[in-house]
Amino acid sequence: MRLNSPQINLIIKACMKASRSLIRDFGEIENLQVSSKGPGDFVSSADKRTEKIIINELQKAHPEYGILTEETGVINKSNLKNRWIIDPIDGTMNFLNGVPQFAISIGYEENNEIKSGVIFNPIMNEMFAAEKGNGAYLNNSRIRVSKKKILKDSLLVTGGPKGASKIKDKIFDEYVNVSKNVSNVRKFGSAALDIAYVACGRFDGYWQRELHYWDIAAGIIILKEAGGFVDFFEEDNSHPFKKNILASNSIIHNELKDLLNKKDIE
Ligand code: 2AM
Ligand code: CA
Repeated sequence: MRLNSPQINLIIKACMKASRSLIRDFGEIENLQVSSKGPGDFVSSADKRTEKIIINELQKAHPEYGILTEETGVINKSNLKNRWIIDPIDGTMNFLNGVPQFAISIGYEENNEIKSGVIFNPIMNEMFAAEKGNGAYLNNSRIRVSKKKILKDSLLVTGGPKGASKIKDKIFDEYVNVSKNVSNVRKFGSAALDIAYVACGRFDGYWQRELHYWDIAAGIIILKEAGGFVDFFEEDNSHPFKKNILASNSIIHNELKDLLNKKDIE
């Protein structure tokens, strides 16, 4: 891999360290599925444990950096120059059910611009990584988005709605509408991996409403460096932390965005 900033090296080191305990935890899930207590509490402690390992590792090198994480929230709030964005387990529902489709996602931002990111699925041993200006990689190979030109022939991926969503019907209607206009749509349950899969050409595009920044920060730079395009649709300022993301191979982007912005869903 030709990625060599100090930050990406730190992220990779933190990912590798955290993934060792995460793999052990995942091995326990199968036993817990059949226990009367179920795996719920265990999963939330695995989430916290993973995040703690990552934070410790990153803070050893840079105690002054800002951090935004799913579990802990904000650390060193005033440092906006350098900030880590961490999702310790993206795809928690999959993890909880023993499905090996989840990832550690860590992004690094300078002055509010995402500079590098890593998405690591420890079970598949797939590490997606990118650095601004230096390309995107899956393990040691350079990755590129697909060359699919026609939306009708595209394979897309999406996610949601989450349990508490107030717009479930809208999301389901949108799913139907998009499905009718493309080759097919998948739902894999990890926003981070969904974007990474667009980056390496497995899918042609991805959209999802109501995400948090930590779900997508690393994915944004990985997709951009792979030649893809990311933006947001129907931004809702009353929920500044919730993002409606649209990520694609660039070529089908506008057509897909028009489809999502269509007010009257058939
Ligand atoms: P998570 O696994 O870290 O919760 C599933 O469609 C994708 O949406 C996952 O990446 C999931 O992240 C993300 N997501 C964000 N907020 C969510 C929530 N409150 N409930 C379920 N999934 C959520
Ligand atoms: Ca997440």
